[in-house]
Amino acid sequence: MVRLTLRKLALSLVLATTLLAICRRYAGDLHFTISRFQDNKHPSVNPYPPDITTSKDSFIEAFLSTELALQFDHAAIQSVCASKGWREDVVFTCDYIAGGIGNVRNHLLNCIRYAIEAGGSLVIPGVMRRNQDDISEIDTEDWMDLGYLFDKEWFLEHLSTACPELKLWQSLDDIPASSNGTMSQKLKLLPGSLDSWVPKWGLAHPTSWRAYFDEWLNVFGDNSSAQTYLVGIGRAYLEFPVMYDGEKFVEEFGKILRFRKDARVLAGAVLWELQRKFFNQSSILIPGDRVIANTYFGVHLRTESDAVKAWPDADWKFQRYSIQSSLAIEEISHSTLKVVYIASGNTTEAARFANDAYASPMLSDLAGVVTKHDLLSAEDKKVLDSFTFDQAAMVDFIVMEKSSRFAGIGHSSFAWNVALRRHLLVKKERSFLSGPNLLHDSLSDIWGVTRSYVEYSNCMWP
Ligand SMILES: *[C@@H]1O[C@H](CO)[C@@H](O)[C@H](O)[C@H]1NC(C)=O
Ligand SMILES: *[C@@H]1O[C@H](CO)[C@@H](O)[C@H](O)[C@H]1NC(C)=O
Ligand SMILES: *[C@@H]1O[C@H](CO)[C@@H](O)[C@H](O)[C@H]1NC(C)=O
Ligand SMILES: *[C@@H]1O[C@H](CO)[C@@H](O)[C@H](O)[C@H]1NC(C)=O
Repeated sequence: MVRLTLRKLALSLVLATTLLAICRRYAGDLHFTISRFQDNKHPSVNPYPPDITTSKDSFIEAFLSTELALQFDHAAIQSVCASKGWREDVVFTCDYIAGGIGNVRNHLLNCIRYAIEAGGSLVIPGVMRRNQDDISEIDTEDWMDLGYLFDKEWFLEHLSTACPELKLWQSLDDIPASSNGTMSQKLKLLPGSLDSWVPKWGLAHPTSWRAYFDEWLNVFGDNSSAQTYLVGIGRAYLEFPVMYDGEKFVEEFGKILRFRKDARVLAGAVLWELQRKFFNQSSILIPGDRVIANTYFGVHLRTESDAVKAWPDADWKFQRYSIQSSLAIEEISHSTLKVVYIASGNTTEAARFANDAYASPMLSDLAGVVTKHDLLSAEDKKVLDSFTFDQAAMVDFIVMEKSSRFAGIGHSSFAWNVALRRHLLVKKERSFLSGPNLLHDSLSDIWGVTRSYVEYSNCMWP
């Protein structure tokens, strides 16, 4: 009798606990669904504690924490690194890291990827600073530390976790072979040149690249008393077919490059001002979401003087302001967004676009067309003004990445980089390169001739 009661009691305890667990689970889901729904459909409902909408500092802190959504998963990179044969007698330097941030990111990631493929070690790369007086001059040999654009601590921490086999040197002086005189003169290598063919979609034989490299080095090895080879990797831009390493690797690899903190903070300040100015101070941020839904349209206007010079408008239709602005105005008119943020390194050009957008009969109910210069407080603007052209571009890059919709042009690596990174969030949309635009998915558009620029879609690391 007593035993039976005890068993009943135990059974009901188990039942009650299970029920409670189920309720908790569904309550959690329900809460999640509601807060998402409210924030997406009714931007004025604020699901946050008040201080995120009333204090700039806590807003920016919440913004910085949205990066946690990145959740760096090192496993795919670890397994690629573990699969390579590593050799102690090769040290690489990255000798051509230049251009705008889209270029710089891809140059860096390719250089590192080749060092991994060759199984050598790597001197921590730097970045060339472009000429501020003539921004079309990028190959300046004016070398800056990696921290000029990126978060170096983050880079070191994550690269060494993801690829512990890849030894990193602070500088050439730290390499024993360079101080004891057993290191070779620098051998210059254009990595793509080792393959017999580099079509637009990337190296024809990535699987054989390591063998080609070992063979190439042997030619020097036979003829030299060096014990360690110093190899300078030259220009290697859009040539490594990123899918060679598999989807998971592609998703993770670019995460080793995170923009430096002051640029991220300024991007957070831009969003704070957008929120205050246009969204009645309800929070536009959902920590954990990488894109901010139903708020602003991000337009990348690539008509700065360096672009105008590099792509003469007789040959490059999409370079023209008239084409870019009319495409943007049409695209905005197809969306329900009323706030437009313009990413541009030229305030005159941005103001011209704002005028045209306000004047357009297709956009009669715009709430605002703004840039970082219009939005930032005087204090933040001082920081922005201290930035170089490419440092300021990082602020726009981040704001573009977060935008509800993004659009740009096909000959811009900046635009491709933003759109490809956003595409990782909607990977299921496989036909994103089959029109109506050059790139089109539920988050972004890139204008241009469909199926052109395969070097970007195949060889740019997101
Ligand atoms: C020089 O340093 C290298 C390490 O890179 C070492 O392998 C080599 O034995 C050293 N050679 C001499 C002569 O000390
Ligand atoms: C080998 O060394 C000789 C003499 O220094 C030089 O003439 C020749 O070009 C070198 N060959 C290679 C493949 O580096
Ligand atoms: C903000 O509030 C004002 C006044 O209450 C209202 O007219 C306006 O539509 C609101 N705007 C947004 C974006 O919610
Ligand atoms: C900005 O655009 C104007 C024309 O709108 C041009 O004259 C000027 O050179 C451009 N400057 C830069 C830095 O792009």
